[in-house]
Amino acid sequence: MYALETRPLTSWKPTLPSAVLERPGQTPILQIYSPNPLPLRRLQKIHGGRVRKINFRPSSPFYLRVGQSLIVTSDSRSLPAKDRPIPRLKIRAGPAFGTGEHATTHLCLRYLTRYLSRIRKKNPAVLDLGCGSGILALASARLGAWAKGWDHDESAVRESIRNAKLNRLTTRTSFRQANALRAPLPPADLILANLYDVLLLHLLPRLDRHRRAGTTLILSGILRGQANSILRTARHLGWSLERRGRLGRWLCLQFRPQS
Ligand SMILES: C[S@@+](CC[C@H](N)C(=O)[O-])C[C@H]1O[C@@H](n2cnc3c(N)ncnc32)[C@H](O)[C@@H]1O
Repeated sequence: MYALETRPLTSWKPTLPSAVLERPGQTPILQIYSPNPLPLRRLQKIHGGRVRKINFRPSSPFYLRVGQSLIVTSDSRSLPAKDRPIPRLKIRAGPAFGTGEHATTHLCLRYLTRYLSRIRKKNPAVLDLGCGSGILALASARLGAWAKGWDHDESAVRESIRNAKLNRLTTRTSFRQANALRAPLPPADLILANLYDVLLLHLLPRLDRHRRAGTTLILSGILRGQANSILRTARHLGWSLERRGRLGRWLCLQFRPQS
């Protein structure tokens, strides 16, 4: 499979076959996928960009441990005795983004488990924008939150609901198809958004009510070179940076309202 990208997006898997043309901000983004590179080379002559080969790894079983707080696995394997007391989440190695293996998800898991281990409030409300497989909302619910997950992709919502059933977390979670940049956002103690920079820049101005209510934000999906514009915008809108973490070339930023 080959992709023509006039502006590379972050690396989540598209549903194939597809052509993606997004304009969440001013910058148009075009991605076209084809099993044959030749039509892409012709389009590249007109639109520019680069053609790259995509190697899809078949979904493989995984086992991820987030410190002493959480274990995420793709199956029901039995855990080593030392890991058995740790809360566990099963996420199907399915089509939606979010097995925990990607740095952006892994960083969010680290940050949300730390946040939830410190918050005094019982049953905090978590809103996961761009929930993919539902992993972040479900991890939050496993650790005691009431979590809502939104995704504009219907198949991601279906996958999240499947994972909620698999983990018997259907009463603590709800998932719906919604555009995080359009639909009114419900109140939350914690908002998780593992999206990408342009979307995050458009999301931030929508969170003023949340800032006034004291919500914490965990933003992920940010490449190193993109962090400054997000930091500047967040500061300008009244958020102060609480934590900043890096895994490879990916950053995760945690904000709370400026005091
Ligand atoms: C990088 S994935 C994150 C998945 C999961 N939350 C995780 O951390 O692994 C981003 C997800 O955001 C969804 N998404 C992108 N733009 C969106 C929008 N405007 N509103 C809602 N969801 C969106 C995509 O469909 C995708 O499932």
